[in-house]
Amino acid sequence: MNQKTTRISPEEIARQKDFCAQIHAMNAALPAQPLAYVDTYGCQQNEADSERLRGYLSEMGYGFTGDENAADVIILNTCAIREHAEQRVFGNLGALVHAKRNHPGQIICVCGCMAQEKHVSERIKQSFRHVDLVFGPHALWRFPELLWRIHTRRGRIFDTPDEAGSIAEGIPVRREGKVKAWVSIMYGCNNFCSYCIVPYVRGRERSRQPEDILSEVRALAAEGYKDITLLGQNVNSYGKDLGREGVDFAWLLEQVNAVPGDFLIRFMTSHPKDASERLFDVMAKCEKVAPHLHLPFQAGNDRVLKAMNRGYTREHYLGLIAALRQRIPDIVLTSDIIVGFPGETTEEFEDTLKVLEAVRFDALFTFIYSPREGTPAAKMPDPMSKEEKAANFQRLVDLQNAISAEKQAAYVGKTMRCLVDVLSDDPRHNLNARTAGGRLVHFSGDESLLGQYVDLKITDSSTWALFGELA
Ligand code: SAH
Ligand code: SF4
Ligand code: F3S
Repeated sequence: MNQKTTRISPEEIARQKDFCAQIHAMNAALPAQPLAYVDTYGCQQNEADSERLRGYLSEMGYGFTGDENAADVIILNTCAIREHAEQRVFGNLGALVHAKRNHPGQIICVCGCMAQEKHVSERIKQSFRHVDLVFGPHALWRFPELLWRIHTRRGRIFDTPDEAGSIAEGIPVRREGKVKAWVSIMYGCNNFCSYCIVPYVRGRERSRQPEDILSEVRALAAEGYKDITLLGQNVNSYGKDLGREGVDFAWLLEQVNAVPGDFLIRFMTSHPKDASERLFDVMAKCEKVAPHLHLPFQAGNDRVLKAMNRGYTREHYLGLIAALRQRIPDIVLTSDIIVGFPGETTEEFEDTLKVLEAVRFDALFTFIYSPREGTPAAKMPDPMSKEEKAANFQRLVDLQNAISAEKQAAYVGKTMRCLVDVLSDDPRHNLNARTAGGRLVHFSGDESLLGQYVDLKITDSSTWALFGELA
C-alpha cells in the first residue's frame, strides 16, 4: 500500500465540478428534476461525507428525496464497524432490487467503509447485480466523474483502491440544517486497535491544514451556525503529520475558539493515549469549547487493554479524568465500551464495572465485541459463550442506567442555557434542545425558537433525557 498522503489539487476538483456541470446539463433537459436519495450509516464522519456527496449531487442538478422508489440515484453510505451494521446494509441493499425493477433507469451506488472491504465489494459484484457503482472513502472526491461514466457508458464500476488516503479541499457541502455543523479536521487512523476495521478502510491519519479548517469555521460562524463539531477518529493527534511547529489539537482549539461568533465547539473522538493536561487547560480557558468530553476507554482491565492495543492503562485513564475534573468540575463525560473482547473473562469484565463506578459517566455507548475480518482480534481465541457475554453486557447496561438516571436527576430544579436544535419526537413536547454539555432536553415552545439559545428550567428527568420549560 502507498503510505503517502496525496493532496488532491484544486485543478482536479475543478475537473470534478466540470463533470457536475455536464450532468447538470443532462438533467436540465429532463421533463422533471431527477431526485437523489443518500442513506447514511455509521458515525459522524460518514454524515460529513454524505454532506459532500449531497453537495456534489446538488451541483449536478439533483433534488433530494427520502423515498427509494422516487429516487433516480440511490447512494448507500455504509459502515463496517460491527457485523450488525453490515447486515442492515445488505438487507436494505437486497430490498432495492424491487425499487429498481419499478424504475429501470435507477442508478444504485454503495460507498463508505464497507465498500472498501475486499470481501464486501466481491460479494456485491457476484450477488448484488443491481448495484451500478461501488466506491470507497478514498474515491469520494471523484464521485462526479464516476457517476458521469455510469451515465455515459455501459457496465458497472468498482473503484476501491487500497491507498493511504488523500485530502481534498473545495468539495461542495450541503449541510442538513442551519444550526449544527460537522467539520472534519483529519481523516483516517493510525492506531490499529486490534478489534477495529477503521484503519483498514479509512487509511492513514492525515490532517487538514489549519488555514482550511479555520476558514470553514469562520464561514459557518458567519452563516449563524451555533454548534460546530470538529471530527476525527483521534483528534488528539491532529497535526502530527503536518510537521508544522506548534500546530497540534490544543492549539487548533484555541484558534477555533478565537473565531468571532456565538457558537459552541465540540469535538470527537479523543483517544486517551494522546489526551493531555495541556488540552484540558485549553478546554477550561476557551469559553466556546463545550464542557463535554467523549473519551472512550473500551475496557477496565489492563491485560485486555493491552490485547486491544489501546496504549494506556486503567490507572492512566483514571488519572486523566481526575486531571480534567480538577479544571472543569462539572464536565459531562461520555465513553465507549466493548464487552466480550476475545479472551476477556468475567472477572476482567468486572474491572470495567469498577471504572464505571469510579468515574460515573453521564452516558455510555456500549457494544458487544464483533469480529471484523482482517483484524488481529478476529484470530484470537474467543471461548466465552454468547449467553455469558450477553449477561455481562446486561450488568453493564443496568449499572450505567442507574448512574445516568441519578446524574440526570441532579439537573432537576436548575435553569440552563440550551440551544434549540430540532423538532422533538417525544409525544408530549415539540422541541429538543441541548445543554452546553450536550444533554438532551425536551420542552414545548414555538417552533420559531429553532436555532436559538433559550433558558430552560429543568422540571423532570429520565435515564436518557431531561424535561424542561421556558424560564
Ligand atoms: N476512534 C474512536 C472510535 C471509533 S469506532 C476511538 O478510538 O475512540 C466507535 C466505537 O465502536 C469504538 O469506540 C468501539 O467502542 C466500538 N467498536 C469498534 N470496533 C468494534 C468491534 N469490532 N466490535 C464492537 N465494537 C467496536
Ligand atoms: Fe478504531 Fe482504535 Fe482507530 Fe478508534 S483509535 S478508529 S477504535 S483503531
Ligand atoms: Fe463506521 Fe466507517 Fe465510521 S466503519 S463508525 S462509518 S469510520
